[in-house]
Amino acid sequence: MLPTNKEHWGTKIGLVLAMAGNAVGLGNFLRFPVQAIQNGGSAFIIPYFICFLLMGIPLLWVEWSMGRFGAKHNQHNLPSILQLFVQYRWIRFLGVFSLFTNIVVAAYYTYIESWTLAYLYYALIQKFSGQTLQEVQHYFDSFRSWNHYEGILFWLITCLLNVYILSKGIQKGIEATAKLLMPMLILFAISLAIFALSFQKGDFGAIHAGIVGFDYLWTPDFSGIWKPKVWLAAAGQIFFTLALGMGTIQCYAAYMKKEEDIALNAMASGWLNEFVEIVLGASIIIPICVGFLGLNKIHEWAQLGGMGLSFKVLPYLFSQWGILLGTLTGLFWFGALFFAGITSSLAMGLPITSFLSDHFAWPPKKGAFLFGTLIFLLGIPCILSPKIFDEFDFWAGSFSLVLFAVIEIILFSWVWGIDKAWNEINLNAKIKIPYPFKFIIHKVTPVFLITIFIANIPGLIQKLIEETTIDVVIARLLMVLLFLLGLWAIYKT
Ligand code: ALA
Repeated sequence: MLPTNKEHWGTKIGLVLAMAGNAVGLGNFLRFPVQAIQNGGSAFIIPYFICFLLMGIPLLWVEWSMGRFGAKHNQHNLPSILQLFVQYRWIRFLGVFSLFTNIVVAAYYTYIESWTLAYLYYALIQKFSGQTLQEVQHYFDSFRSWNHYEGILFWLITCLLNVYILSKGIQKGIEATAKLLMPMLILFAISLAIFALSFQKGDFGAIHAGIVGFDYLWTPDFSGIWKPKVWLAAAGQIFFTLALGMGTIQCYAAYMKKEEDIALNAMASGWLNEFVEIVLGASIIIPICVGFLGLNKIHEWAQLGGMGLSFKVLPYLFSQWGILLGTLTGLFWFGALFFAGITSSLAMGLPITSFLSDHFAWPPKKGAFLFGTLIFLLGIPCILSPKIFDEFDFWAGSFSLVLFAVIEIILFSWVWGIDKAWNEINLNAKIKIPYPFKFIIHKVTPVFLITIFIANIPGLIQKLIEETTIDVVIARLLMVLLFLLGLWAIYKT
């Protein structure tokens, strides 16, 4: 069936903000600082930057240009876009990754997003005022259980909000949301970072000045640089934060105007993400927690991940700072998280609505409703079992991203050919891409990605063999079913 979808981004700033919104997410504020602490602080940043340079930037250009190439042929879904590069019909089945990965990731991602919305509301009503740290912690544990009606209500509201915005389409839905929320997110995060880096020992009962936490995060520990684990963590963070290997970038880029530049636009959104991650992400949660809890406690908490710090510790600290400052910091923190989250989960919905629109002429409303229903149904097992949540995150949120990135770079720069690929990336470019990137995209990035993929295999096999409890098996069965459903949908096109 011929595509009927003729929408495109209204403005260049709208496109860049939407793409940056896709990238800037919970990963920037919650995942990055904790990954950095767990992997040697400033030692982590060296592999991180090398991965950004050799893998992140090249893949951004590859994915943006695949998308714009789709736009030229009025195709906005990965299965059809892949077929533009390789003339075999079966190749479109590889586009199943964009359907599978986004639905599974969105199922648990919107669930976490709903916590940020709930805690935004709690900040507004000063729910934790006068509570002890233990009470705040206990509340979060009960909030996450299936019979906590408020938790479920906020999750439903979050799913419905995603469906509503997606159903409005590109310009009136995703673009309008990104234009409104991204500037607010950046404003909130900058305000919090200034506060976190400027409070002194003794202010509001702080044990250390905020800057101590910043120094702690960036204290060199170069022993980690030779450890494969640190490299895998850095590569994983680059994938997650830039939303690579998910098919969302291609899908967003497929709504560009054909003559638009991708070289500069890709860099603008990619570097905006890095600014939010390295500068702002590193300057809020850790400086505040170190300042008020001390260095010993923070390391203990960091081992438990960013969620514990964000939902169990910060609301307690905010509540200690009086009504005005406590409410403002709470609103800014959870507001920034929610805005970051929703602009990313919307990007996970678009590959589904576009696929249905291109091939089955479904209006965005109908596609958005199906997406909402699927993530809601898959979210239920995540609420019931943390193991299922982890399985979804492992297979869809890390393994399949790398696998698809290996596939796409081979197709784009080896099968389609590096000369055509390089010309496509440079078409209408507003900046001159340094020539060595041709070599990097052709040789270095594919080898780098294949190495990372191979390095992941032992952990993968161990996980497959060792983790076989009933919830894990259910999670795997659900994912297999969804994958097959995706293949069937593509078969019907
Ligand atoms: N890129 C999104 C994030 O960082 C998924 O959360």
